[in-house]
Amino acid sequence: MPFLSFNTFTVLPVSIVASFLLASCSGSDSETPVPVPEVPVVSSAVFGECGSGAPIQLPCGFPFPRESDDNPLSVEKVELGRLLFYDRNMSFNQTQSCADCHLQEKAFTDGLKVSIGSQADMHARNAMSMTNVAYNSTMNWANPQIVNMHDQALAVVLNEDPVELGWEGHVDEILNRLKSPSNSDYAGTSFSGNTPDYPKMFADAFPDEAEAITLATAVKAFAVFGSIMISGDSEYDKDNRGEVNTMSDSAKRGRELFFGERLECFHCHGGFNFSDSVDHEGSTFTHKTFHNNALYNIDGDGDGIGDGLYPSDNHGLRGFTLLPGDEGRFRAPTLRNIALTAPYMHDGSIATLDEVIDHYARGGRLILPPDPNAGDGALSPNNTSGFINGFVITADERLDLIEFFKSLTDWKFVCRDDLSNPFEDVPKNVMCL
Ligand code: HEC
Ligand code: HEC
Repeated sequence: MPFLSFNTFTVLPVSIVASFLLASCSGSDSETPVPVPEVPVVSSAVFGECGSGAPIQLPCGFPFPRESDDNPLSVEKVELGRLLFYDRNMSFNQTQSCADCHLQEKAFTDGLKVSIGSQADMHARNAMSMTNVAYNSTMNWANPQIVNMHDQALAVVLNEDPVELGWEGHVDEILNRLKSPSNSDYAGTSFSGNTPDYPKMFADAFPDEAEAITLATAVKAFAVFGSIMISGDSEYDKDNRGEVNTMSDSAKRGRELFFGERLECFHCHGGFNFSDSVDHEGSTFTHKTFHNNALYNIDGDGDGIGDGLYPSDNHGLRGFTLLPGDEGRFRAPTLRNIALTAPYMHDGSIATLDEVIDHYARGGRLILPPDPNAGDGALSPNNTSGFINGFVITADERLDLIEFFKSLTDWKFVCRDDLSNPFEDVPKNVMCL
C-alpha cells in the first residue's frame, strides 16, 4: 500500500486563506471578494507540479491547494485516511463508511437523490462529488461556515441531524476499535485476514502526538485523504494542454456554447474548477459565492404569486444568514466529472443532464399544481443573477453540450488505485478495465 516514503515539509512564504473569514454572509450574487491576508503557508511534499515526481502530481497548470499549518499533508496521513475513509467500523453501528456515500466509480457521489445516513436518516441533500474539494472556498451545497476539509470531516463524523457516521456520544467506543483492531469486533468491513495495524499507522502519521489515536487525529487523516482527490486529466484538460485528438469536434462545439454569452454558464461555473467558489495558494481573494438558479418559486402566503421559496429543509444560504434574499442560494458546484454524478442539484431533483439543459433553457423550472412545490422558478423574485434568462438551443447544440459535459470526465481520477477501496475488491467503473 505505501506509495512513497518521503514526507519532509517546507514552509513557504505565500499568502494563505484566513479560514476564519466569513466572507459572504450577505450572499449577494455580485459578491465583493474578500482580500486574503499575507501569512506563511505550510506546504508538504505530497503535492508537486506535473512531472515533478512528487507522490501526488497536480494536473499541469493547476494551482497548489492550501494546506493547514496544523495538518500538513504526509504520505502516512494519506494512507491512514484512505483506510478510515473505506472502513465501515468508522460509523457507530458499523454499517457505513464515507465511501458508501462517496463512491469512486461515481466520482465520489452515491447516485441517490438524497443520501441515507448510517442509521437510516434521510439527508436533506444530495451527496456531493469529492472532486477537487481541496480547492473549495466553502464546503457543502450552501454552508458559508465550513471552509476546509478538516471542518467538513469533523462535521460529518459528529453530525446528528441527520446522523451520518454517528460518532456523537460514541467517540471513545469508535476510537477503541482503532486502538485494538485485532481484538475488535470488525463487523463492518471485512479485512480478509489483513487487519490494518491502526496503532502503528496513527503513530507514524502523528509522531508528535502523545496520544496518537484521538478524534482530532482521525479527523485530520480524513481531511488529508479528501484533499488528494484532485481531478484534472479529462479530455477537456488534455485539449487545453495542447494534446491533439482528445476532445471530439462535437465536445468542442459544446465548449463554445458553454463559454458563450447565449448560455451564460461560465459566469458561475467558470475557471479551472468550473465553479466561481474556489480558493488556493497564491489567490489573493477568496470567493465565497452562492446563487439562486431558479429551481423553485413556491407561493408561501397563498396569494397565487410565487414568493421565491424553496422546499422546507433546503433554504440554501438563507439557512445561515436568515436573509429572505438568500433563499435558494447555493454554491455553484464544480462540473468536473458531471456525467458520472447524476442526479443533479442540491436535492437531486433533476435526473439527467438533458433535463438540466431544459431547466436552464427555460430560464427556471416550472412545477405545476397540485405539486406542493408548484411555482415558476423563472419568475422567482430571487432569480436575480441576471444570467438565468433562458435561451433557444437546437437539438444538435444540445448534443454538443452533452458531449462537452462528457469531456469533463477524468477516467484516471475515477480509476486511481490510491483512491480506491483498500479492503475489498470493489468493482471499479467499467471504463477502468
Ligand atoms: C450519509 C452519507 C454520507 C456520508 C457517510 C458521508 N458523506 Fe460527505 N456528503 C454527503 C452529503 C449529502 C453532502 C452534501 C451535504 C450538504 O450540502 O449539506 C456531502 C458533502 C461532503 C463534502 C463537501 C463536498 C463539496 O464539494 O463541498 C465533503 C468534502 C465530504 N462530504 C466528505 C466526506 C467524508 C470525508 C466523509 C467521511 C468522514 C463523508 N463525507 C461521509 C453525504 C455523506
Ligand atoms: C447564476 C449562476 C449560475 C449559472 C449562470 C449557471 N449555473 Fe449551473 N448551478 C448553479 C448553482 C447555484 C447550482 C446548484 C443549485 C442547486 O443545487 O440548487 C448549479 C447546478 C448546476 C448543475 C448540477 C451540478 C450538480 O452537481 O448537481 C449543472 C449540471 C449545471 N449547474 C450546469 C449549468 C449549465 C449548463 C449552465 C448554463 C446553461 C449553468 N449551469 C448556469 C449556478 C449557476
